[in-house]
Amino acid sequence: MKRLYIKTYGCQMNVYDSERMADVLRPLGYGMTDDPEGADLVVLNTCHIREKATEKVYSELGQIKRMKARKAEAGDGVMTIAVAGCVAQAEGAEIMKRQPAVDLVVGPQAYHQLPELIARAHRAKGEGLAAEFSPEEKFDALPETRHVSGVTAFLTVQEGCDKFCTFCVVPYTRGAEWSRPAEAILTEARNLAEKGVREVTLLGQNVNAYDGAPGGLAALVRQLAKVDGLDRIRYTTSHPRDMDEALIAAHGDLPELMPYLHLPVQAGSDKILKAMNRDHTAESYLRLVERIRAARPDIAMSCDFIVGFPGEREKDFQATLDLVTEVNYASAFSFKYSRRPGTPASAMPGQIAEEVMDERLQRLNALLGQQQQAFNEAQAGKVLPVLIEKPGRREGQLGGRSPYLQPVHLDGPDHLVGQIVPVRIVTGHKGSLTGELVQALEPA
Ligand code: 5AD
Ligand code: SF4
Repeated sequence: MKRLYIKTYGCQMNVYDSERMADVLRPLGYGMTDDPEGADLVVLNTCHIREKATEKVYSELGQIKRMKARKAEAGDGVMTIAVAGCVAQAEGAEIMKRQPAVDLVVGPQAYHQLPELIARAHRAKGEGLAAEFSPEEKFDALPETRHVSGVTAFLTVQEGCDKFCTFCVVPYTRGAEWSRPAEAILTEARNLAEKGVREVTLLGQNVNAYDGAPGGLAALVRQLAKVDGLDRIRYTTSHPRDMDEALIAAHGDLPELMPYLHLPVQAGSDKILKAMNRDHTAESYLRLVERIRAARPDIAMSCDFIVGFPGEREKDFQATLDLVTEVNYASAFSFKYSRRPGTPASAMPGQIAEEVMDERLQRLNALLGQQQQAFNEAQAGKVLPVLIEKPGRREGQLGGRSPYLQPVHLDGPDHLVGQIVPVRIVTGHKGSLTGELVQALEPA
């Protein structure tokens, strides 16, 4: 068996892509290893969204290069180094120039060509570059069956973005919005369910812009809810603009659709939202959240924020804090604005000093942290249906997820993995819950 090491950076779409790369390479005799030392093929599946993420790739490549040299010195064969993902898409051949130990570069729409690229890279340096935009061709070429480990899985249903937020590289690295045909998604979902998957998270850069079936994402979710064995459905990431009535209604009446929604707003000031080209105001976002909560009152809201976008004054930042206070989030991700080459915002006047961004990020995180903790603490005393995902770190301990995506720790027998069981929540912590089984269950 040849040893394959894949390191994944960035978003869940990359996690899905990494799994699919392993599926493509398995028939060629590659098996996964979790140590890059001595591996026959090392794939870095990269992220371009912020400068830090991109820089990490180059420092990692420095280390991998030394491993490649050690393997060659030991007479243990050749290590092939591949750079995949969004840095590959954005920087292409530049990567091979900057780090000559790299054998091939493959964009997010081209990794079905990995076997061919590996062969070509060994024939002639410089031929191992593929960065076309054709998600359709890629999905057609991917093996139908997936290797599954666990009871939850990601399932990509949509790729790309046409929104062109002025800070974001995604429309350039992932291309235009494209939806997978519903039939292919249903086939993949049935296949996952047959292998024991109980929960799928539908992925897309703009997942609620999905239009691969009449009726959009709401219709797709309704079809998926009928798949035998699939009990829980989630989707991410959504744009407020594409949150239509049908999808809101689905949250109200589909028990399989979990009460958790990641709906990034990015900022709370209308001036900044306009400069970001977000196409919504703080007010329209708040009204949208109200409509979603009217349909599903217990829904846990999650969000992304950027602090320090060019031109952000203290009072604009204060508007972000006000919006957070008004919505009350169960979880959130916040980032300092990162100036990305080629994006409109990178050329805007009023770039914000690092110290100001640091200070704002700290204040925002403090507020979001309080909200998350309060949300978790509020679960204490409730009985929640928990999907048991895996044995815990200690013997006799289990790890699962609440409907609100909170990790739950409890004691119980291993055979409960894959089941949804009632759990009484005892304590809510900052990032997780502790609970106990409601009744002692007999071994299956
Ligand atoms: N700087 C900081 N954060 C960014 N994001 C996207 N582009 C940038 C950038 N240039 C954040 C947004 C998005 C999340 C995935 O990453 O909040 O929702
Ligand atoms: Fe980037 Fe905006 Fe598209 Fe999200 S909606 S991927 S932030 S351009």
